[in-house]
Amino acid sequence: MQLPDEAITYQYQSLLVPALEDWTPAAELRALHFLSPIALRDLTPKLLQVRSQIATERELKQIPLEMQPLDPGFIDGPAKLLEQHRKQTETSTLGRILALGKKLQDETDAVVVLGIGGSSMGAKALFDSLKHTFHNELPAKERGHVPRLYFEGNNVDNDTLRDLFHLLEISCVDPHMKKERWGVVVVSKGGDALETLAAYRAIRREMMQYYGKDSPHVKNLVVAVTGEPSKLRDLVKAEGIPDDNVLPIPSDVGGRFSVFTAVGLLPAAAVGIDIRALLLGAQAMTRRFLEEPFERNPVLQYAGVNFLLGQRKRTRVLSIWSKKLETLGLWYDQLLAESLGKNGQGPTPITSVCTRDLHSRGQQHQEGFRDKIINNVVLKAFLNQPVDIVMADHNEDDLNQFNRKTYADIMAAAHKGTSQAYFDSGRPTADIVLPSLSEHIMGQLMQMMMLATVVEGRLMGVNPYGQPGVSLYKKNMRALLKG
Ligand code: PA5
Repeated sequence: MQLPDEAITYQYQSLLVPALEDWTPAAELRALHFLSPIALRDLTPKLLQVRSQIATERELKQIPLEMQPLDPGFIDGPAKLLEQHRKQTETSTLGRILALGKKLQDETDAVVVLGIGGSSMGAKALFDSLKHTFHNELPAKERGHVPRLYFEGNNVDNDTLRDLFHLLEISCVDPHMKKERWGVVVVSKGGDALETLAAYRAIRREMMQYYGKDSPHVKNLVVAVTGEPSKLRDLVKAEGIPDDNVLPIPSDVGGRFSVFTAVGLLPAAAVGIDIRALLLGAQAMTRRFLEEPFERNPVLQYAGVNFLLGQRKRTRVLSIWSKKLETLGLWYDQLLAESLGKNGQGPTPITSVCTRDLHSRGQQHQEGFRDKIINNVVLKAFLNQPVDIVMADHNEDDLNQFNRKTYADIMAAAHKGTSQAYFDSGRPTADIVLPSLSEHIMGQLMQMMMLATVVEGRLMGVNPYGQPGVSLYKKNMRALLKG
């Protein structure tokens, strides 16, 4: 199979017990805490069997009770969206997402996305990683005239919601001007998340006040992304939101696996992210997963390594060497915790952003409990031109010696130096290497993480789909509110 030039790789050799290492105290620690290459080799047949099982699960028409819930729709979802779009263009789901994204661009200067968990975190990860760090602060021209993007309904925090209303009030005064109009994308698969629905109700009220109850904007500038049937679907219908403004979430795609449905794609399209390239990246990763041998298969490698070490080390650190990927880490926290935290099992995810968190968590990772696997996410090339250190007249900071170095050099040295320190003290680390930060890469990365989570769940004997534990807090909260 022809791989794109910019394929991501998982480099895990540094956490394998080195062959024929002479005895030293450090070598003994590595023998104890690193992964035996033989154990990984022995797991390979099982990994291939799990892959076949997952491939078969995609085809099941009737799902036996003991396999439920089963939501494998995310695996082929990207390919299906692209294929349908090739055949039906604007009437396809992707065509409709693109059209609504364009409409929000043409008619608004700000879009508020309401959603929680899987209905919000993937879109935020795409926005933070692929758009300018200060997108919302840029003047419209510098933003390419695409809207600012805000996320709410992901909590029930009174003060942040009020602050958002305040911001809209002061930045949007005249609804006749496009630069002062805002719209809403409300996302809920089940259509009954209290956080999302309460925020929607509150923001509807603001909208009516701002645009006037009978203004067409109160209908046209709301888009709902939801499953079927759902209370949210019924609600927007009753409010007269046009059918064209309601996008589906396939029933066989679970919330935290839904970033490559309208859930993540519509907010991304609204701010000008190339969603076809995202889907192509995700599709390429699915193909690699299904077709490639273990040696060239980052999904199987990542799942296998983390499953085996995870039996001894319960904390899974995603150590991210780019500030722009922090929310990707939070998205992965949710993916891992909700998918595998079941039956008294499951790794505890932690997102760490370097070098920032070397000054907070670093001490513990270096010398604390030996309960961690550290997966670095490393960018081979930054997006922007490297910032130089340069010579300065005043050298009290002693940095003139690094005058020919750049920020990228410092980051590379910090990563290498940290990995060496962890290796020397027998703390296992591996690298997910991203050639750069682009839509195609983000598509690959997020699909890789979703697939690997399913593989790991199957290896652990845990159903990665569904989140039965979450319903208990919801039940209690509603009962208390009724009281
Ligand atoms: O992964 C999941 O399924 C959850 O995190 C959901 O996304 C979250 O609970 C929100 O659910 P809904 O989209 O139904 O509002």
